[in-house]
Amino acid sequence: MVRLILDSSTGSYPVVIGSNLHRELRNAITRLDPTGAAIVTDTNVRPWALKVAKAIKRAGLKTSLLVLPAGERSKSLAQLERVLTFLERQKVDRGGCVIAVGGGTVGDVAGLAAAMWQRGVRLVAVPTTLLAMVDSSIGGKAGVNGRRSKNAIGAFWQPSAVISDLAAIETLPPASYRDAFAEVVKYAVAMDRGLFDLLQRNTPRLADRDPAMLERIVFRCVAAKALVVAKDERDRGPRAILNYGHTAGHALEAATGFRVSHGRAVAFGMRVAARIAVAMDLCSKRLVESQDELLASFGLPDRPPSADAKKVLAAIALDKKARRGRVAWVMPRRIGHAEPGHAVPGALVRRVVTRSLA
Ligand SMILES: NC(=O)c1ccc[n+]([C@@H]2O[C@H](COP(=O)([O-])OP(=O)(O)OC[C@H]3O[C@@H](n4cnc5c(N)ncnc54)[C@H](O)[C@@H]3O)[C@@H](O)[C@H]2O)c1
Ligand SMILES: [Zn+2]
Repeated sequence: MVRLILDSSTGSYPVVIGSNLHRELRNAITRLDPTGAAIVTDTNVRPWALKVAKAIKRAGLKTSLLVLPAGERSKSLAQLERVLTFLERQKVDRGGCVIAVGGGTVGDVAGLAAAMWQRGVRLVAVPTTLLAMVDSSIGGKAGVNGRRSKNAIGAFWQPSAVISDLAAIETLPPASYRDAFAEVVKYAVAMDRGLFDLLQRNTPRLADRDPAMLERIVFRCVAAKALVVAKDERDRGPRAILNYGHTAGHALEAATGFRVSHGRAVAFGMRVAARIAVAMDLCSKRLVESQDELLASFGLPDRPPSADAKKVLAAIALDKKARRGRVAWVMPRRIGHAEPGHAVPGALVRRVVTRSLA
């Protein structure tokens, strides 16, 4: 088990990573001493949430459970309203807390409800997907989707504790597990050479979901993200490094109507970004090769994305227009170090994107 203490503008909080952490969860809640706890989860994670509820009840706390439909569609204003109404009905007061048990979907919608209810009650994150453990539970971004916009309605709301129990990973569907490695490789290439080496040396153990190895990986990812968030909690500058692979990645998602998953899209985006970086003489060809090999060893992509290059380029152009012409690409310089804020000539983007989809 490892424990980190992260600092934020609203105070510091523990992140605990390990297996079978019911006691740690109970201790964390006891320390917060809330007047009541409202657990939010989804239909697939319900059995896990019931275990969490049992563990907390043993601390003598009143708990209640709300189960949302599983899937991204729950990141909606309608489900947000359901959570808020639930908190109202349960009479959660300003001393209460919301416990989000689930992946990034539950974390984002429950997090936003916690930020809004009573103008902010404490949030405890119990992430159950690898993506939520390495990414969405850290950094304090909460939100839901608008009718046509992703994550556009949201707030910054830091958790009071994050308990990442790796035992939950056992039941995770293979595609969700695989996709999370796109973000893991992102941290490695953009920020942490040691993580890159660790991943290279341990792909078989990770394919087996070895909890001890996962503990080390999640720890390094959390530390990498925390470092950036500490410098730029509100995402006004340095935090942009976390967008490595996301410029072309988001464009691929948009161009395919979100048929390509986020992880596969980010893997594609990193391949594009690294090739652009080589063409601009910013990094070596060797980086592209090692990154490709590592992504492939995690099954990313499992097959080349089938998408219309023109549509992907149009989506990149749209993003550029929305940012008044300033698309800032995150470019890798060497393994473990990337730089945000690079302008890339349109012709080069066209060439690399077209080739990467051929
Ligand atoms: N707030 C942030 O900083 C941030 C960062 C990255 C991503 N996100 C958001 O996170 C969301 C994606 O998160 P996700 O990939 O965790 O998706 P998710 O929460 O939708 O979970 C994926 C699926 O796995 C199921 N599941 C969850 N845990 C399980 C378990 N232990 N065993 C079996 N099934 C389980 C869920 O019910 C769901 O069907 C997106 O909405 C994205 O925008 C937010
Ligand atoms: Zn991402």
